[in-house]
Amino acid sequence: MNSLNPADEAYHCDLGTERKNLTPCTIVIFGASGDLTARKLIPALYQLFKEKQMPPSFRVVGFARREKTDASWRAELRTALDQFSRTKPVDEKAWSAFAENLCYCQGDLTDDAAYKKLEAQLTEFGSGPLRENLLFYLAISPSQFGEVVEQIHRTGLLNKEGAGWQRIVIEKPFGHDLASAHALNRELTRYAHEQQVFRIDHYLGKETVQNILMFRFSNSIFEKLWNRNSVDHVQITVSEKLGVGERGGYYEEAGALRDMVQNHMLQVLALIAMEPPVSLEAEAVRDEKVKLLKSIRALTPADVAEQIVRGQHFAGNVGGEARPGYRQETKVKPDSNVETYVAMKLLIDNWRWSGVPFYLRTGKNLPLSASEVRIQFRPTPNVLFAAQCGKKLDANAITLRLQPNEGISLRFNGKVPGLSLGVRPVRMHFSYDSEFGAYTPEAYERLLLEAIAGDATLFIRRDEVETAWQIVDSIRAGWEGKPLTNREFYAAGTWGPIAADDLLAKLGHAWHEPQVIK
Ligand SMILES: NC(=O)c1ccc[n+]([C@@H]2O[C@H](COP(=O)([O-])OP(=O)(O)OC[C@H]3O[C@@H](n4cnc5c(N)ncnc54)[C@H](OP(=O)(O)O)[C@@H]3O)[C@@H](O)[C@H]2O)c1
Repeated sequence: MNSLNPADEAYHCDLGTERKNLTPCTIVIFGASGDLTARKLIPALYQLFKEKQMPPSFRVVGFARREKTDASWRAELRTALDQFSRTKPVDEKAWSAFAENLCYCQGDLTDDAAYKKLEAQLTEFGSGPLRENLLFYLAISPSQFGEVVEQIHRTGLLNKEGAGWQRIVIEKPFGHDLASAHALNRELTRYAHEQQVFRIDHYLGKETVQNILMFRFSNSIFEKLWNRNSVDHVQITVSEKLGVGERGGYYEEAGALRDMVQNHMLQVLALIAMEPPVSLEAEAVRDEKVKLLKSIRALTPADVAEQIVRGQHFAGNVGGEARPGYRQETKVKPDSNVETYVAMKLLIDNWRWSGVPFYLRTGKNLPLSASEVRIQFRPTPNVLFAAQCGKKLDANAITLRLQPNEGISLRFNGKVPGLSLGVRPVRMHFSYDSEFGAYTPEAYERLLLEAIAGDATLFIRRDEVETAWQIVDSIRAGWEGKPLTNREFYAAGTWGPIAADDLLAKLGHAWHEPQVIK
């Protein structure tokens, strides 16, 4: 699509930078020798520093069990950056200046003395904001969250009231069902206010996921159509080409429902379907998301049998590569009933969406990796073009491509050039890369920056987590004691079990393959 002309650029407004309130602070990473730190956290912080987005002064203290010095930790992170940095080659000057702010604190999370040592290290930064403004990033197992939060509170590093600010960032999974999520949230909020807890879903840091709100609420042409009067149904697809690989052990406990639906997919659904918030403040946006999640119609076991399809892949071929069946993966039980695929029809009982089916599907070992939301509009009365199009004119659709090649496509009908009156669906594509250039910050850059700034809009609130678990638990209850049937298996490299197609066919719908725009 063509760019705006320069006069139109005057309408460009940046809602981001001016509301940032970046005070000097120290980021304490628990799990500093782990994969997440090397792969995501340090590359993101380095990138923010390089782009002059970090606070005027900051420190990063890495905490883990292995023996390391400041110098050896920095050297390891520098090596990892070659592999994981978003921009290559690594800018040595920027890295050296950034690395001066990194130091390592060796200790065991279960050892009281280690927290005293950490406190002493922080006190070396003086009595000002570098000691008082603390972002604790818990890049550790969720089973360790409670202990760490209690210990940092006991050591006086985490206060509910007092000088400066202290925040805790945690990674999913936030429990494995409603009861465990409750327990975790109770543990965290014994020592911190809910406002101090930042739950990360990296999906929400993606540019295009954020753009959903911008797209919906700043464009009157689409805003007017966004309801049951115009929308026929909605499809949300998150397909993964990869199988479980090394993560068989984890996946046996999780499955596609817990791994993808409870968090990423329900978050996307909430953003697509929620009412306009009263402002862009964190609580206003999150209030609307919770309201939406609460208006999803509750599922009885009979509804689960009718509306939810699970699947598991057997061996097959993905893009020319042979893949084993899920049950043959390492650390997977040979008779496992864990779902590698799930598709569902959800109904939203509110004024805007009453009667509109929302179809969600996600799976492993599917033909391609893509995430997209397709809004399918109601067809026009087919009274004029029936002779050309048969029974049905193709209905219009808007597709929000979340990845890859983020952008938006509009599908509508056009006349086939020539003397006859042929009608054919055509597409108009908008792509972020071609419009704005290739600058797309990594999700962790955005999320770390927001956590440092204290803006919780892109983080998940306690009631969001718990409401999402309620939905997922009701589905699991419907599956309880029911082994997978033949119709629920699919070959690796296909789009899932037949039962998923039948689910849509009941209402005359069909899945649309995600679009890959070259
Ligand atoms: N890796 C990812 O891409 C990713 C993505 C999303 C979410 N997550 C989540 O992020 C968290 C961390 O994942 P990860 O992949 O980085 O795990 P990991 O590679 O296993 O790292 C775990 C870290 O925890 C430290 N640790 C464990 N027990 C400790 C103890 N008793 N005392 C001190 N340190 C201890 C380890 O230190 P030592 O090795 O020095 O003992 C290591 O630094 C998990 O909750 C995971 O679910 C990870």
